[in-house]
Amino acid sequence: MSDRYAVFGNPVAHSRSPAIHAAFARQTGQDIVYEALAAPLDGFAAALHAFAAAGGRGANVTVPFKREAWRLADRRSARAQAAGAVNTLRFDAQGLFGDNTDGAGLIADICGNLGYSIAGRRVLLLGAGGAARGVLLPLLAAAPRRLVLANRSEDRAQALREEFAAAAAALAVELPEDGFEALGLPALAGGRFELVIDATSAGLAGAPPQLPEAVFDPAGLAYDLVYGPAARAFLDLARRQGVAKRADGLGMLVEQAAESFLLWRGVRPQTAPVLAWLRASG
Ligand code: ATR
Repeated sequence: MSDRYAVFGNPVAHSRSPAIHAAFARQTGQDIVYEALAAPLDGFAAALHAFAAAGGRGANVTVPFKREAWRLADRRSARAQAAGAVNTLRFDAQGLFGDNTDGAGLIADICGNLGYSIAGRRVLLLGAGGAARGVLLPLLAAAPRRLVLANRSEDRAQALREEFAAAAAALAVELPEDGFEALGLPALAGGRFELVIDATSAGLAGAPPQLPEAVFDPAGLAYDLVYGPAARAFLDLARRQGVAKRADGLGMLVEQAAESFLLWRGVRPQTAPVLAWLRASG
């Protein structure tokens, strides 16, 4: 019998993860099945345990269950521990092992697929929710010159900054030489960033976060963590501000999936053909 994996979310029906993992399995000759399972908002733990009891070997976790998955994990990788969120679970004899592959996926997409170096850049991360916390430590570790965390509610950005400054110190990750700051959105006026990453959920409602003029450096990169229509409002704003290099999070999705696949199967699939196929199939 094939080994079973699943992505849990709510909603999850439109997830592209089953197609990605099926492609990885074909490519590497691994005998797995991978499905999308919707868990009730108050029933994630029960759904997960039922899946493990039925022979599931591991799971991806998406919105809105990543924090709960972190709490449910019996052991966690250092990067999941710091993120405070888990997107990958492996069901081991010792219990649930929790990892977070989102940040590694983002860095692999930006630096690898898009060929854009983060080291030495001024970076702006928008948002202070679950998506932002998944990528913050790997972003700091990529050695930007300056990193600003900006959020509509400034206090959430401040709290996240403090939490991650402490995590960085504990893991000997150096803070950016021009500063690691938390700001409200209006306070971004006058700043200019080479890499602007949208980790807000504003795009789901079809409007970008309200940013002051000239926050984008036109020679830089605008990146949205989500993919498809939800990324459009932010990427259109970047285009209107003259940014030529823009990307949605489809590459990150494929890269984080490859990292999860490696954790489960011990083999790293090639991502480029899968990403090209997904882009071509729309
Ligand atoms: P996720 O897990 O997707 O990060 P979340 O934890 O609900 O979801 O966080 C959503 C993020 O998007 C928050 O940073 C939120 O800002 P607030 O903390 O001020 O609520 C941000 N966000 C949502 N809608 C927004 C909008 N219209 N403009 C700017 N930021 C927005």
